[in-house]
Amino acid sequence: MKRKKIVAGNWKMNMTHDESINLIKELKEISSNYVDIKIAPSFTNLNKAVSLLGSSGIEVIAQNVHFEERGAFTGEISIEMLTSVGVNSVIIGHSERRKYFNENEFILSKKTKMAIDNSVNIIFCVGEELSEREKGDHFELIKNQIISGLFGLDIEQIKNVVVAYEPVWAIGTGKTAENYQIQEMHEYIRKLFNDKYGSDISQQIRILYGGSVKPKNAEEIFSLKDVDGGLIGGASLNFSDFNAIVQAANG
Ligand code: PGA
Repeated sequence: MKRKKIVAGNWKMNMTHDESINLIKELKEISSNYVDIKIAPSFTNLNKAVSLLGSSGIEVIAQNVHFEERGAFTGEISIEMLTSVGVNSVIIGHSERRKYFNENEFILSKKTKMAIDNSVNIIFCVGEELSEREKGDHFELIKNQIISGLFGLDIEQIKNVVVAYEPVWAIGTGKTAENYQIQEMHEYIRKLFNDKYGSDISQQIRILYGGSVKPKNAEEIFSLKDVDGGLIGGASLNFSDFNAIVQAANG
């Protein structure tokens, strides 16, 4: 089955308001009939990004959301705040959230539920540390992250989920995983979905790779059988790199 590729730019804590506007104006020129393009600016730039991108076909998504509906959670952003500015997808479980903000499986599954209950799509990130891979624990670990984060969803709800496999040791390090390491993990993840939800879902679900995807390696990574695009950090911050990566997925 042919799955449409996704290229999603995760801007992380980068880009002022003016910088965002400049990049978005350039991004509007990208043409890509065969790729779903998404960008995740910071919260302060979401509203403007949605209004600038309008009907361009580029989706604006959020980098995070809180797991409660509303209330006394100083500094947090609710799901309703996102949908009220036209944002209907969110990244959940990024390794930086897990690591620096102590987001554990319990919190992440609550976030997943909050998003899905409000018809917000999810890019759910999983990934192992280098030490876990060296011990040979990586498959088990990814399995546990997926079970606790996603497998509480039913078969209809799971259709609103995209998975991103991002080995933590490859994020922002310039070190990409080997092609065979990427393919074998993506195949393993797809099999987990097959065992839980059946073959239709496992063939439909899109699994992105993330971790130092650049113009020079994107085409090769995207050609792997079970890779359905990428979650791009550093290289999503300038037009020429991001465009080159989108074009690599377009092919
Ligand atoms: P990177 O980040 O492309 O800078 O490695 C990827 C990510 O964290 O999603």
